[in-house]
This record gives sequence, C-alpha cells and structure tokens, in this order.
Amino acid sequence: MKNLQNALQLKQLYQLKSLGYHYTNAQLFAQEDEPLELPNTLVDLKKQAQNCHLCFLSKGRNRVVFGEGSQNTKVMFIGDAPIEIEDRAGEPFLGRGGEMLTLMIEKVLGLSREEVYITNLLKCHPSSTQVLHESTMHSCKAYLFKEIELVQPQVIVTLGEMPYHYLTNDTTALKEIRGMVSKRGGYMVVPTYHPNFLLKNPSLKKEVFLDLQKVKGLLLL
Ligand code: URA
Repeated sequence: MKNLQNALQLKQLYQLKSLGYHYTNAQLFAQEDEPLELPNTLVDLKKQAQNCHLCFLSKGRNRVVFGEGSQNTKVMFIGDAPIEIEDRAGEPFLGRGGEMLTLMIEKVLGLSREEVYITNLLKCHPSSTQVLHESTMHSCKAYLFKEIELVQPQVIVTLGEMPYHYLTNDTTALKEIRGMVSKRGGYMVVPTYHPNFLLKNPSLKKEVFLDLQKVKGLLLL
C-alpha cells in the first residue's frame, strides 16, 4: 500500500514538474497514511524501526534509537528525540539529561531504569539544521503507539511538551497542565518537565518531584 502511495506521489511530483514547478511544499501531500502494518512483538517492532525510511531523518541517522527497559512495567517515560550521543550508541537518554532522568526514576519512584520503559516520540536524531515537519511526527508516532500497545503501561510520564501534545492532541502549555493526571484509553498520562529543561532550570526540580510522587501513588492503585 505504501509503495502504491509513493508511486502516486511520485506521479504527482512529475506532473507538477511538467507544469514548471521546481519546488513544492511537503504539506501538499500530507494526507492520512494507511495505518502502518507493525509487528506484534517489541523485538520485531525494533527491527522494523531499525530499517525505517519513512521520513528524511533516516538519511542523517547513525542508529535508530528504539525504546528500552522492561516490557512488564507499569510505567513508561516518553521523551522527544535522541541527541547525538544516543544516535551513536542507539540507546535513549544517555547524556546529562539521561542521568537526570535516572535520578528521577531511582530517587522518587524507587525503581531502577531497567524496571521502567523509556522511549521517545522520534526514533531518529534530528540534526540541529533539520526542520521537523508534521509528517515526520506522523510517521514515527505509529511506532510509539505500538510500543504503548505492547508494553501496556498503567501510567505514561511525558517529558516536555512535544510528547504530551502528540500523545493527547492537547496543546495546552505544559506549565498549566504538568502533574495533572488524565485517563486515555487503558492508561493514565502525567505530563512533567523534560530532564534537559531541569538542567537549565534546577528550581523546577521541586515540581517534577511532586509530579513523580503522584505517579508513585498511581502505581500503588
Ligand atoms: N535524549 C532522548 O533520548 N530523548 C530526549 O528527549 C532527549 C535526549
């Protein structure tokens, strides 16, 4: 199906070229994709993501950074996208932000990193010059939703604005909704600040502590 769609898009591009266009806006072709056929195990899903070329980020990546951690966990953390160090290693949250996230998990939830599941909205590292299009989020979101379906967490903690917006379609500013629990399908979502944001704004650690205490309470339910 995807091939058919690609072929149709190519045909449209040739038609536009014959009309004298040298440029077009990718939005022109933004349309609801056929749902991606995705495998039903995390191992196979990771393999499929590792071979993914659905968007232009695949051209610049070194490694696909798929989610990692326990599949039998009650809590999942979702960040934005891998940074350079993670692009080289193929693992999420390794830098200073990763250390901060590990501390949040260990000190407040009393769990190890291996006992939770950590992933990102985007599985490939966007370089600083790459502008992210809606279509990039759209194609990558399918992997995230499948990870959620397979892990079945009780609570999802979104780190920063972007994963919360894409998961819930709610575009309220993070400072207004952080720490608020909302029920979505089979899980609860708790938005909080991104660990990288905390590194720049350490005074907000108190808020994140409170948000994660709430998460700890939910995990006992
Ligand atoms: N590293 C990640 O894996 N995700 C982020 O959101 C930031 C850094």
